[in-house]
Amino acid sequence: MARTSNNSNGITKKNRNSFLNGNSKNGSSSKNGSAKTSKKSNKTLEDLFEEGLKDIYSAENQLIEALPEMAKAAYNEDLQDAFESHLQQTRRQTERLEKIFDRLGIDKKEEKVCEAMKGLVKETEEILEEFDRSPVRDSALIIAAQKVEHYEIASYGSLCELADVLGHAKIAEMLDRSLQEEEETDHKLTGIAQDVNDEACEVSHIGEEEEEMA
Ligand SMILES: [Fe+2]
Ligand SMILES: [Fe+2]
Repeated sequence: MARTSNNSNGITKKNRNSFLNGNSKNGSSSKNGSAKTSKKSNKTLEDLFEEGLKDIYSAENQLIEALPEMAKAAYNEDLQDAFESHLQQTRRQTERLEKIFDRLGIDKKEEKVCEAMKGLVKETEEILEEFDRSPVRDSALIIAAQKVEHYEIASYGSLCELADVLGHAKIAEMLDRSLQEEEETDHKLTGIAQDVNDEACEVSHIGEEEEEMA
């Protein structure tokens, strides 16, 4: 799927201008005024691009930590395989980002922590703590994993557009490859969810019947 054909994927060409001019509905920061001015600086679009790259690099590295646990926890074999193969893909995506850092002369050691991914991974950990290993937990894991994929799709979609507008054609191509992988993973999870949710529904009804009989 072409990244500009889907309006949900980050910044599309249609709204690029309003975004770049700071006219998006949520883009104006002037209302919040003086209290938060101390952290403000005259950032360029290149700075924004660099920060976005560091953010997704942190997100991918957090996932490299989380995905083995998710694969181990999965009850459904297809889901387990999907998490394992996405772990390999995620490792390649971080390497792709490192190549981009090299091209742009960015020091990847100047770390930025992706707080959004921190929250999404925490939600996954809560699922593992609160649910027994079952199809119902798999349903919950798929929902959590798709939230992660959608975050990544939004991030890579936006970064592709910024790379384009800044004239980094090769980098835009590399980011687009990761974007497509995230979209494919999202679709794969949707397919697995159909079986898993049926199973989860079945075991939930068995549970209900047993409760009624008791
Ligand atoms: Fe990724
Ligand atoms: Fe992903």
